[in-house]
Amino acid sequence: MNSRSLDGRTRVYGVVGHPVAHSLSPAMHNAAFSELEVNAIYVAFPSTPEQVSRMIEGVRAMNVSGVNVTVPHKSAVLPFLDEVTPLAQKVGAVNTIRNDQGRLVGTNTDVGGFLRSLESLEVQVPQARIALLGAGGSARALLVGLADAGASRIWICNRTTERARQLIHEFQEQFPGTDLQVAELEALHAEPWDLLVNTTTVGMEHPESPVDLHAFQEVRYLADIIYKPAQTLLLQQAEQLRIPSINGLGMLLYQGAEAFTFWTGLKAPTGVMRDALLSRLQDSPPTRSR
Ligand code: ATR
Repeated sequence: MNSRSLDGRTRVYGVVGHPVAHSLSPAMHNAAFSELEVNAIYVAFPSTPEQVSRMIEGVRAMNVSGVNVTVPHKSAVLPFLDEVTPLAQKVGAVNTIRNDQGRLVGTNTDVGGFLRSLESLEVQVPQARIALLGAGGSARALLVGLADAGASRIWICNRTTERARQLIHEFQEQFPGTDLQVAELEALHAEPWDLLVNTTTVGMEHPESPVDLHAFQEVRYLADIIYKPAQTLLLQQAEQLRIPSINGLGMLLYQGAEAFTFWTGLKAPTGVMRDALLSRLQDSPPTRSR
C-alpha cells in the first residue's frame, strides 16, 4: 500500500473486467499517482458480462473518475458510452473510459501503447511489411493500429483460417493502402518481413513457439505481446538469430501511460510505472497484453 492519505476529495479510478484480481494496473497507476502527488486511488472492480450496463451506470452514479476496461468487456461497453473516439470505434474495443462530469468518453490506448513499445526497435511502421500471428481481439487492435500507421503489407496467419479471413474481410476496404491478406505459414516463411508479431497465446502457459523462426527467409524485428514469461520460446529463437525483439511489457506500460494522461492531462511517469510492473510481475500468473 502506498502512504498517500485518502480524504473526501480523493478521486477513484479502477479496472473493470473478469477476472481482475491479478491485474498489474492498480500497482502501475497507484505508483504514478503517488509519484505526481495526485489525490487519487486505483482499484480493481470485478464485474461479470451480465453486469456491464449496471457497471457503467455505477461509474456514472458513484462519480468514478475513470476506468480501464479489460477482458471480456472491451467491446460490450461501447453502446453504453456517450462518446467513443474514432480509433476505438475502428477497433471496436474500448480499454479506457474517462468520466467528464457524468459524460463517459471511451478510447483505446492498447493501439498507441503497442506502437509506442515498437519505438525501442526502431522499426519504421510506415511502409513496413508485417506478419501477424493470431486473429483474436489483440490481433484486431494491432491490425488497425499498424494499418492506420501506414504499414504497406499486413498478412495474418491463424490456426483457424476462417477467423483471419473475417478480420481481413472487415478491414480491407478501410485500408486500401495496405496489402491485407490471409496467409498460410509456408507463405510467411517465403517472404521478407520487417516485423513479425505474435498475438497468439502460444508460449504463455507452456514453453512452445507458434512458429519456427529458423524457417523464415527474413525477419528484421520481432514483437511478442506475452510479458509473462518475459522471454517466450519465440523470443529465445529471436535472440539466437540476433533478431531485435520486445515482449509485451512495453505495450502494457504504454497503454497505461496513455490512459493516465487521458484521465489526468499529466505526462505519465513511465519510469516508476515500469518499476511497479516489474516488482509485481513475479507474483502474477502467465499473461499477455490484450
Ligand atoms: P485475444 O482476444 O486476447 O487476442 P483470443 O481471441 O483468445 O485472445 O485469441 C487467441 C489467439 O491465439 C487466436 O488467434 C488463437 O487461434 P484460434 O483463432 O485458432 O483459436 C490463438 N491460439 C490459441 N491457442 C493456440 C494454439 N495452441 N495454437 C495456435 N494458435 C493458438
